[in-house]
Amino acid sequence: MSEQQVYPVPAAFAEHALINKDKYQAMYEQSVKDPDGFWGEHAQRIDWIKPFSTVKNVSFDTHNVDIKWFEDGTLNASANCLDRHLETRGDQVAIIWEGDNPEQDEKITYRDLYTRVCKFANALKGQGVRKGDVVTIYMPMIPEAAVAMLACARIGAVHSVVFGGFSPDAIAGRIVNSDSRIVITSDQGRRGGKAVPLKENVDEALTNPDVKTVEKVVVVQCTGGDIAWHEHRDVWYHDIYEAAAEECPPEPMSAEDPLFILYTSGSTGAPKGLKHTTGGYMVYASMTHQYVFDYQEGDVYWCTADVGWITGHSYIVYGPLANGATTLMFEGVPSYPSHSRFGDVVDKHNVNILYTAPTAVRALMAQGDDVMGDTKRTSLRLLGSVGEPINPEAWTWYHEKIGNGECPIVDTWWQTETGGILITPLPGATDLKPGSATLPFFGVQPALVDAQGVELEGAVEGGLVLLDSWPGQARSIWGDHERFIQTYFSTYPGTYFTGDGARRDEDGYYWITGRVDDVINVSGHRMGTAEIESAMVAHKDVAEAAVVGYPHDIKGQGIYIYITLNDGIEADDDLRKDLVKWVRKEIGPIATPDLIQFAPGLPKTRSGKIMRRILRKIAANECDGLGDTSTLADPGVVDNLIDDRLNR
Ligand code: WT7
Repeated sequence: MSEQQVYPVPAAFAEHALINKDKYQAMYEQSVKDPDGFWGEHAQRIDWIKPFSTVKNVSFDTHNVDIKWFEDGTLNASANCLDRHLETRGDQVAIIWEGDNPEQDEKITYRDLYTRVCKFANALKGQGVRKGDVVTIYMPMIPEAAVAMLACARIGAVHSVVFGGFSPDAIAGRIVNSDSRIVITSDQGRRGGKAVPLKENVDEALTNPDVKTVEKVVVVQCTGGDIAWHEHRDVWYHDIYEAAAEECPPEPMSAEDPLFILYTSGSTGAPKGLKHTTGGYMVYASMTHQYVFDYQEGDVYWCTADVGWITGHSYIVYGPLANGATTLMFEGVPSYPSHSRFGDVVDKHNVNILYTAPTAVRALMAQGDDVMGDTKRTSLRLLGSVGEPINPEAWTWYHEKIGNGECPIVDTWWQTETGGILITPLPGATDLKPGSATLPFFGVQPALVDAQGVELEGAVEGGLVLLDSWPGQARSIWGDHERFIQTYFSTYPGTYFTGDGARRDEDGYYWITGRVDDVINVSGHRMGTAEIESAMVAHKDVAEAAVVGYPHDIKGQGIYIYITLNDGIEADDDLRKDLVKWVRKEIGPIATPDLIQFAPGLPKTRSGKIMRRILRKIAANECDGLGDTSTLADPGVVDNLIDDRLNR
């Protein structure tokens, strides 16, 4: 299929859309010519306790990166998501919860959510949580996860949500890095009919001798499954919730007070805790949610992400709730009890806007064109995609088989670091090209640079940088501002470097080509190859490990590991299984290797640097044209690697 196939904005869509072509042009121009005027005006969509007088105060200078928006204003994020809606939409449904089990669901109104948040906020105070404390949240996709986040925001505690697919060691690392004193979890989670041992994982994390700060573990009773209980440390959510008072005034927070930390993987070192602050984040999450999804009064909106990722933070919880939207929260998976589940949920709740990931689309696509069964999906009017590039085939299938050929698709490019969507179509304004994230959102100034950092003009490919700040941008790495500067502002001084490559076509459309660093994207989950390597070499039988991504039909990229074993260790299938188990324990099931190749030697330069370029090619089964191997210390190892390759 030609990349250049264009899907014009459907006339009927444009007629009712919030932003049409002319409006996009005019607003975009104003946003980059006069950021202070533009953001000063649009920040009024948020309720401020004390109004700000300064809009933007930003330096991308490598010696002194400093990002501040609305710095002298005060506000409270939970009040923006709850209190201000009570008068106008107290009885409107805020959260539709759809259980893993299709017979379980719940509708929570804004008034009800407000009460739950206030009570739990008081309960947290009762456990000693104070403004500025970090609270770790390790929860399944149940309403209490959103309640816990908003309760933290209400009292000025900083939440750190850890995705339920991470291992005890990964939880421990995040707790240690953030000095968290409280963990909120549940007995178990449910996914695809199976129980997930969340509390057990927390128990194990807390046996790690490095974890010294945790005083309390608050446990939501979710499945009622058996768990161990530590009398002086563990408390039931329902006990402290029932006992709590209903009145909890929102804490006035400075715009630059942290709202949350969220850990993500980079090309080196341990995961980084990105720090997001309150004012700019709320302005940006709510504004992008409204315009990118053309969210209009009464729409039912469903983002299928997990609250453990930034997508869940910005586009299940904060953005939609700040906008008074009805947001659907799904506990389950697309394949349970059958592969038509997405269609079933859309029909059941009359979902209008569906936002999901390419990997989910491809997994459904692999089930065949009839996978949606007799579901109708006629309520849908807009689809969204996020997490990795969506290949044109998957785009077209999504458009036809899920959206009945009627719904525009917004392919939204962004990152944990960006807080909200940066490059995206606006569905009433942007003609679509399958596979392209299209154009920048208001205030966003992308540029492409060559290896020397020289900005490239016109239709070209290069490293994707952002020339100036936007309100939702992460402000720092928790506890390590120097690393923040090094990671994002030193490669191309004066700009924010995304780590992605991109191509710009003759219409100015951006096509994200993927990471240009040692980060891989597996099913939309971002993973550092260095992180997996360091887990591997911690295994007693492993001498050396090299991790690369390779093209995978459903996951986008799969994890391919080359392993050199210690002398005298036999390479066999039992050991391979044991290594898989090991990574799952060290990092979590999301890092499960797809292919492990035992390799007596790895291709290295004479200075000892592993040549990943070659390993990537072999893993991709592209063994011709490996390029120049003359700088290798021992070119012979390459032939061995090719002979034993696993992806054929
Ligand atoms: C990386 C960020 C943004 C929330 C989910 C992932 C890749 C994300 C797209 C897209 C092409 C995309 C990039 C980015 N990515 N969305 N629409 N098209 N690539 O957040 O875990 O921080 O990962 O995901 O490579 O850098 P994240």
